[in-house]
Amino acid sequence: MSDPVYSVLVINRDVGVAEDFSRALLGLPVAVLRACDRAEGINFYHEFLPHMVLLDSELDNGEGPLQDLFTGDSALEVVLLTNRWTEVGALAAVARGASDLLAKPLDPSKVQQLVSGLIAQAETRRHTQELDNELLEAYQFQGMVGRSPRMLEVFARVRRVAPLFQTVLVTGPTGTGKELIARALHNLSPRSREKFVVCNCSALTETLLESQLFGHVKGAFTGATQDRAGLFEHAHLGTLFLDEIGELSLAAQAKLLRILQSQELQRVGSPLTIKVDVHVIAATNRNVRELAARGQFREDLFYRLSMIEIQLPPLADRKEDLPLLQRYFLQHFSTKYNKKLNGISRRTQILLARHSWPGNVRELENVIGNACIMAQGKVVVDTDLPEAIRVQVVRPEKGAGSLTLEEVQSRHLEYVLKLVDGNKARAAELLGVSRATIYGMLARRIRHVDQKDNLSA
Ligand SMILES: Nc1ncnc2c1ncn2[C@@H]1O[C@H](COP(=O)(O)OP(=O)(O)OP(=O)(O)O)[C@@H](O)[C@H]1O
Ligand SMILES: [Mg+2]
Repeated sequence: MSDPVYSVLVINRDVGVAEDFSRALLGLPVAVLRACDRAEGINFYHEFLPHMVLLDSELDNGEGPLQDLFTGDSALEVVLLTNRWTEVGALAAVARGASDLLAKPLDPSKVQQLVSGLIAQAETRRHTQELDNELLEAYQFQGMVGRSPRMLEVFARVRRVAPLFQTVLVTGPTGTGKELIARALHNLSPRSREKFVVCNCSALTETLLESQLFGHVKGAFTGATQDRAGLFEHAHLGTLFLDEIGELSLAAQAKLLRILQSQELQRVGSPLTIKVDVHVIAATNRNVRELAARGQFREDLFYRLSMIEIQLPPLADRKEDLPLLQRYFLQHFSTKYNKKLNGISRRTQILLARHSWPGNVRELENVIGNACIMAQGKVVVDTDLPEAIRVQVVRPEKGAGSLTLEEVQSRHLEYVLKLVDGNKARAAELLGVSRATIYGMLARRIRHVDQKDNLSA
């Protein structure tokens, strides 16, 4: 027999059933584990992360719905074990998210057929995941991922600019990856073996910032007890990354311009000129063009810096990148937190796609990071997301005040169905209900319209 690749957790009091189940699967690559009650079932589920749970419906009664815990994990197949197989019972189980129903005593051929089918499905899913991972590798660039036309253009520009630049301006809203781009420019430049020095221009007061950038001599200001070199001197022959350049004072801007033009600087309080050879990457999330027009940023410096500009688009303008970024962060955090996460449920993906991402990639990184901490199964599910993303506000329509609850539900269903191109399975996932509920609502709506038609006829 080949190595077990598919694991099943049987939760049931009667050991004979688990034995019958294992016997029926002889020859298939399946490992069967048995839990004899609810508590053990839940423990084993968290500990062993099985592919399938065979849950005795007798154990699902009473203290809260056990099935709902499992069906929340979309990577898990839940099969219910009952005393009697009926179509109505099977439909009800499926409506609650179960994959299927098996009757006691177990029929070996039915068990084989069911489990083989589930193994084949799991295999297809694994294959799709492998393809996704290959795609992820193909679209990585210097620690960044992106496949949208705008990001591919950015990456191409970085490749072209890196061997040649002296100064570059990187612009874009917060969290779009400006620092990563700056590092990529340095890494791909002929100076990659030299230093990459970072200065955050918004973090210090005006005097301290000047002294930090250009250095100072003893006695230049109170507290300057000895001569000190600044970051420009430290970055000599390498690259200096000036983050938040929009925060630089006008006086410091004048000094910076001089360095860019003549490669010369004077430490604060010193008349001596020091030669430096530094490439500069400046970044900002402010509109420097506008600041320059308002006199808050030197125009000559702006023109000098913006000769080569790399603009990063907000995440909302490149939603094609979302699936890749999600997978990238999922891999990153599951390794970091030592969890065996291998996917994000479809409903979660839909919610992520609908969010507007004002904090851009950093926000997505945080959301996926937290979700990975929260996740209990193999898959990140919607309840692992923060509430702001989970509960998306539905704007009340005009005249909604006079609608009955059922009419509001029906209109919302219509709206969601449009959103997913009429796909009822996706609509069910998005609304957090079963497919059967969707069909029920649609049937009621048709009856409702028929009744109205009859009345008006
Ligand atoms: N394309 C990308 N692929 C992978 N990770 C990314 C990408 N873009 C940004 N990140 C990640 O998002 C976070 C924010 O990126 P970064 O610090 O470069 O943004 P920023 O534009 O400098 O933001 P701010 O203006 O707030 O300083 C970082 O953790 C970075 O690793
Ligand atoms: Mg930054």
